[in-house]
Amino acid sequence: MEKSFVFFLRTKIISGKDMVREIPLELERTKSKKPMIVTDKILKEKTNVISKVEEVLDGREYIIFDEVKPDSECSIVDKAYRIAKENGVDSIISVGGGSSIDTAKAVCILYEKGGKIKDHPGVYLLSKETVPHIAVPTTAGTGSEVSHVAVIKDEEEKRKLVYADFYLMPSVAILDPTLTISMPHSVTAHTGMDALTHCIESIHSTVNNPVSDAFALHGIKIIFENLPRVLENPSDIEARQNMQVAAMMGGAAFTNAQVGVVHAIAHSLGAIYGIPHGLANSLMLPYGMSFNLPECPRYKLIAQSIGINESDPEKAGKKLIEKIVEFIKKIGLPTTLKETKIVKKEDFKKIAELSIGDPSIISNPRFAIMEEAIIEILEKAWDGII
Ligand SMILES: [Fe+2]
Repeated sequence: MEKSFVFFLRTKIISGKDMVREIPLELERTKSKKPMIVTDKILKEKTNVISKVEEVLDGREYIIFDEVKPDSECSIVDKAYRIAKENGVDSIISVGGGSSIDTAKAVCILYEKGGKIKDHPGVYLLSKETVPHIAVPTTAGTGSEVSHVAVIKDEEEKRKLVYADFYLMPSVAILDPTLTISMPHSVTAHTGMDALTHCIESIHSTVNNPVSDAFALHGIKIIFENLPRVLENPSDIEARQNMQVAAMMGGAAFTNAQVGVVHAIAHSLGAIYGIPHGLANSLMLPYGMSFNLPECPRYKLIAQSIGINESDPEKAGKKLIEKIVEFIKKIGLPTTLKETKIVKKEDFKKIAELSIGDPSIISNPRFAIMEEAIIEILEKAWDGII
């Protein structure tokens, strides 16, 4: 190892059954008097997740903003910020999947920057810590509870705006597995595959580093052991907790080591067809890895971590990719693009154009910023050729 790197993680991690009860203590610690819960209507009205949070806040002043949508939008962030300011809110508790956590991060940006969120996309946006943000994820996949990125949809211009700053990492992440039980089967599978993709892509990324490797390798091992368990028995709290921890580790890994071509194509599939992010990653993972294999001896590290004993890096990588395809089948997800019945072959050029402009592609281990490369990956993903 002879290279420079930075690894940054500012989020305090609290993990365990019913650990949502730690919220008041964390509010005390950060001297927060009036938090705003940022969430969505489904969690608020159709599950007991928000009432669990409200129970632990009993006797305190707080308000709830429950208008987050599956893709966080600029107008929703602006509204949440306006309501927070009007009500004297001094901290945020985000409860939900990636979009609630990202909405909360964007509100934190406005606490320093003011104005409209649309005016502030970019990196290194903040000069200091903003309002305390306690993230309480109810899915296990995005890693947003520890990441330094927020993605917000500009609904007027139909594009996604990216905000990145280490001060956007939440102050605290509370991983309470009891809050993930209400997650539908498909969301558990998709978000679990997003977490696996974060771990794998952070290892094959050109800006990998030994610390993110450690997070990612252990994360992969946990996901292989626990995702099938959770899908078989959704109330297996131990496996749920393990998945939350693995997703957090994947978030910490990729936020410091970046991702690659799998995410670049997955973002395009999401933008064009609305395919859920985790499912899009799952569809592309074996084929992105297969494309990278000739220039990625590091896959051997992953192979070893899940018990593949093969000393030749290329053979180890090949066996690993086969094992991943087997794993995706085992958890009941499609392994080819043609099975999706949404993706169209005639769109491959459009998908490729979008993918080569996606920032995720820059750190891919094999140069992929060419339409031909992406189309080759898509062709193989269509037929299932690894
Ligand atoms: Fe992702």
